[in-house]
Amino acid sequence: MEDFIKKTAEYIVSSKHVVALTGAGISVESGIPPFRGKGGLWEKFDPMEVAHIDSFMNNPEKVWRLLISEMKELLVSAKPNAAHLGLARLEELGLLKTVITQNIDGLHQMAGNKDVIEFHGSFAWLRCLDCGSREQTVEVDLSHMPPRCDCGGIYRPECVFFGETIPMQDLDRSQIAASTCDLMLVVGTSAIVQPAAFMPVIAKQSGATVIEINPEPTPLTGTTSTLLVQGKAGKAMRKITAEVGRIIAEKQR
Ligand code: OAD
Repeated sequence: MEDFIKKTAEYIVSSKHVVALTGAGISVESGIPPFRGKGGLWEKFDPMEVAHIDSFMNNPEKVWRLLISEMKELLVSAKPNAAHLGLARLEELGLLKTVITQNIDGLHQMAGNKDVIEFHGSFAWLRCLDCGSREQTVEVDLSHMPPRCDCGGIYRPECVFFGETIPMQDLDRSQIAASTCDLMLVVGTSAIVQPAAFMPVIAKQSGATVIEINPEPTPLTGTTSTLLVQGKAGKAMRKITAEVGRIIAEKQR
């Protein structure tokens, strides 16, 4: 791993335009469970039952109770970990331009990243199904399910459910980021949900280097990605950021 940490830091420093694609794995060390694998949310719930737009529309109360209210407890108390902070530091250094995240937890923004594309939306805002008005989740009374707007309509979270398309603006911006970067860091995603998983492929096809940080290989490993830094995102990013700092300091000497 140490060799790959060094190589990754060298790639970062020598790149002109770094973009990151992140998934649930980056927030595991912040206490938010992933979707797939051991301890994942989809071990407990059937995604088609709780995360499909048809299920939500048929029975919003059930979906709110089962999934979203459970996640809220984790989302309101979670704090960015070393991986989020590392990416924020890379943006601060002018190296990282954009984070494309599949996560709805807002932890990249909390860590300090300014250019974040929330590919699957966000849990920070709710939208009324009747009048369309938006409200911050923290402002809404979630003790009664399903939560309702002043107009009486049911609120939905502003995240993308299965069966929904990615908002055009987010998809367009992500495709541009992927096709213009010269290095893409793919952190903590199983890379199996499309179209997010296609972003590293676009990057690679456009000539960029793709590096993964993940304890497990993914379908991108050895095909789309050049390197897999095999380990937890927080631990790996802490070391990568330190090494980036060391290389920059050395160059300035
Ligand atoms: P997954 O749950 O599919 O994958 C999580 C990935 O994180 C796996 O590859 C794990 O090996 C890795 N991982 C676990 N712990 C880690 C750690 N400490 N550091 C780094 N990586 C770690 O999550 P996503 O790929 O984000 O979509 O899932 C994609 C989409 O599927 C989600 O956005 C969500 C879900 O259904 C919707 O709900 C629309």
